[in-house]
Order: sequence, then C-alpha cells, then structure tokens
Amino acid sequence: MAIIWFWLMTCVLLHIAVLCNAGVTSGFVRKAAWSVDIPKSHFPPPSGTNAPEQVHITQGDHEGSGMIISWVTPFERYPNVVTYWEADAEYEHNKHKHYHKHKTHSTITTYRYYDYSSGYIHHATIKHLKFDTKYFYEVASHNVTRRFSFTTPPKPGPDVPYTFGVIGDLGQTADSNQTLEHYVSNPIKGQAVLFAGDLSYADDHPNHDNTKWDTFGRFIEKSVAYQPWIWSAGNHEIDFAPNLGESVPFKPYLHRYRVPYKASQSTSPLWYSIKRASTYIIVLSSYSAYGKYTPQYKWLEQELPKINRSETPWIIVILHAPWYNSNRYHYMEGESMRVQFEPWFVQHKVDIVFAGHVHSYERSERISNVKYNITNGLSGPVRDSSAPVYITIGDGGNIEGIADNFIDQQPSYSAYREASFGHAILEIKNRTHAYYTWHRNQDNEPVIADSAWFFNRFWYPEDESSINNKEA
Ligand SMILES: [Fe+2]
Repeated sequence: MAIIWFWLMTCVLLHIAVLCNAGVTSGFVRKAAWSVDIPKSHFPPPSGTNAPEQVHITQGDHEGSGMIISWVTPFERYPNVVTYWEADAEYEHNKHKHYHKHKTHSTITTYRYYDYSSGYIHHATIKHLKFDTKYFYEVASHNVTRRFSFTTPPKPGPDVPYTFGVIGDLGQTADSNQTLEHYVSNPIKGQAVLFAGDLSYADDHPNHDNTKWDTFGRFIEKSVAYQPWIWSAGNHEIDFAPNLGESVPFKPYLHRYRVPYKASQSTSPLWYSIKRASTYIIVLSSYSAYGKYTPQYKWLEQELPKINRSETPWIIVILHAPWYNSNRYHYMEGESMRVQFEPWFVQHKVDIVFAGHVHSYERSERISNVKYNITNGLSGPVRDSSAPVYITIGDGGNIEGIADNFIDQQPSYSAYREASFGHAILEIKNRTHAYYTWHRNQDNEPVIADSAWFFNRFWYPEDESSINNKEA
C-alpha cells in the first residue's frame, strides 16, 4: 500500500512539474547606456584605387552548391569579375602546377536615393560548386586584389550536422560591434547566419542617409565575406519616403542584397526558400502583402507541402515581426500574419520560427492559437506538440536601444525572456536533435545565457519543455 501511495504521489508531483514549469524572466539587468552609431570614419574603405569593398556572400541556388558574391566598387564600373578556385587546388598547384582559376562576371547596378548616388554594386552568381568544399575567391581593381574564402555546405541530407548563427536588428553601434565580435569569436563556430531583418538603420538618419548602408557593408564584411548570411527584410529596409521623392519600397536593400528567390519559384526577393544541409529555410516578408490570394500567400501555400522531411528534416522560418512576444514594444504587430499563416505552420510541423523587430530576447514554448474564429470565442495560446518554437532575436544592438519593458506577468507561452543584446547559435545534430544556445554580449563568448534542445517535429515529436525549463 505504501508503495502504491509513493508512486501515486510521485506521479502527481511529476504532473505538477510538467504543468507548472513557469517561464523565466531573466534577472540580468543590462547597464543603461546610450545607443549611438559608431562614427562613419571608423569604417574607412579599403585602401587602393577603386578598391572593392562591402564584400558579402549568400547562398546562390536552392540546394547549396551556388553562391552569390557581391561587392561595391566606388568609382569605376570595371573590372566586374570574381575569380575563384578550390582551396585544395592551390595546394595541388604548388606541387604539380596544374590547377586553374574560374571566373564569373558580375551584373552591375546603381541607384540614387534623394541626394545620394551609390557606387557600382556587383552581384556575381557562382554555380555548380562542389559541396562541403573550401574555395578561395578574389575581387580586384587596379593594383588592389582582395582575397576571401568560403566553404560550401554539405549536400542536403537528413542527418547532416550544420551550425547556424542567428542575428537580428544589427545596426552599427558599439553594441552591434559587440554582437558581431561575439559571434565571430564564439567557440561554437557558426557556418552561416540566419538574419532576422533590419540591417543598417540608415533610415533613422536625416534623409535616410544612405552612406550608412555603405558603412554597414564595411562593418559586417569580416563575417559575411567568409560565410553566407541568409537575408530577410525588416521594416528598416522599406525606406519608403515620399516626402523625399522616394516612393519605391525596399530600394536600397534590394539593390545591395541579392537572394536566390527564383530558385524556389518565388516572384519576389522578399520571400523565398533554400535548402542548406539538413534544413529547409523559408524566408517571409512581414512588410509585403500576405492576405489570401496575394503572391506571398500563394507561394507559401504551394511551398510548404513540397518539403521532403526525409531529405531536409528541419523546417526553419525567418521573418521580422514576431508572432509571439511578451514585450510592450511592437506588441502584436505580427498578429495579422500569425492569423493568416499559423494553421499552415502547425499542419506542416514547422520546427523553429526566428523573428526580430523587438530589441530584446525571448524564447517561447511550443504553442499555437489556431482555434479562434469570430463566433466560437476560443482564443488564447495553448501547448501544441505540432507547433514551432518562436524565438525573438532582435537583440543585435542597434541605434534604437534596448526593448526593456516586458509585460507582467510573464505569459505561460513565454519560456525565457531577457532585455539584453546578443546572438544565438543553432546546432543541428541529426534528424531528431538540435541544440540551441543564446549568448548575451556582456558575458565572455563561451557563456551560455539560455539554451534548449529542440526535437524535430517530424522525426521525434516529443515534448522538450521539461528538460529545457529545468532551471526555472
Ligand atoms: Fe524592426
């Protein structure tokens, strides 16, 4: 009898523990400080006549064997060539003198914005690279040659490990610099960055000072020239200013940052998908139409059923305005998109959604709110094992400062939240497990401020919340 009573009590206690693992509002208090941009003079162009600058790369096709190489030459259009070769080939060259360099020409674009004229913006798409291979590449002008390197991802496959950095709302302040420095020196090495929108914050300056787009390009080069950043657009990319005579949305962003949207049958660079290793990444636009029958809606509707979880088990979505966020800043700005698309995310078992916009950090439980309709009155997030985890990673540290006004009480859907700047790392281990860590800027790089195991929703749809909230 005593044994039965013991087991009964144990079950009751376990049950309470599972139901009551309340979320954490971190006690860490960031030192209050002004957020101002690093002066432009701290981001000088590279030396040399017409030297290529603002070098950045992103995936150039759907599978991962292509790369888009972009750079700016400030004064002259030409040369518009990128030269590239396998790193191993260079070794062979030294031994046997037989390797050859490949060349691809860029397309060149320029734009004007109010009183600003851009340099010559080059985009060169390299295709048919070998998977999982290191390449060198060079861009040059006159007597300046700049050399960089990148490593292509492994061929898509269900158990291919891959590590992503996650950064959002970066800007170009001292805090932004800390975030980027922390990311590049994190002992867990990210192989590509998922970027949750809001890049340069040029539009926070008079007349949307587009030289801030140039300094931002120089600022991030130390990472993005060597590994692809997967771009999504935020509100600071819209640059819609009819008072300045600028009424074409996303003009600077779309001239400067190219993505392989046509490879996923998208009709706009603002929404698209790629495969990378064991992941299927979907980028959405919070600031483009997504109502029923719109191009983005039609694209996503046909995109989600295409995903083969036996090839790419992990579905990751990047968008800018978070659907679940318990901060007073930008509260519920993502709500109409959530209402439109959330049932599809649950139906197709999306694993993780990364958003930015709110300048702090938050991680949700697996929750959904798809029961509501106008007559039944059922409304409110509930635990849902088919739902994604929602992560707000708008904590890059831009000129607008921290969003430090969380709503009291912490809602039950919120697992961890903190008003600090930082970045995250997502380590896909295999088809069932991924380990996720968040790193605040005030700590040394190896310190993990928040962490969670994510179990794949298709291959291993078990509940992770009890192990993830063990420190609650
Ligand atoms: Fe934003």
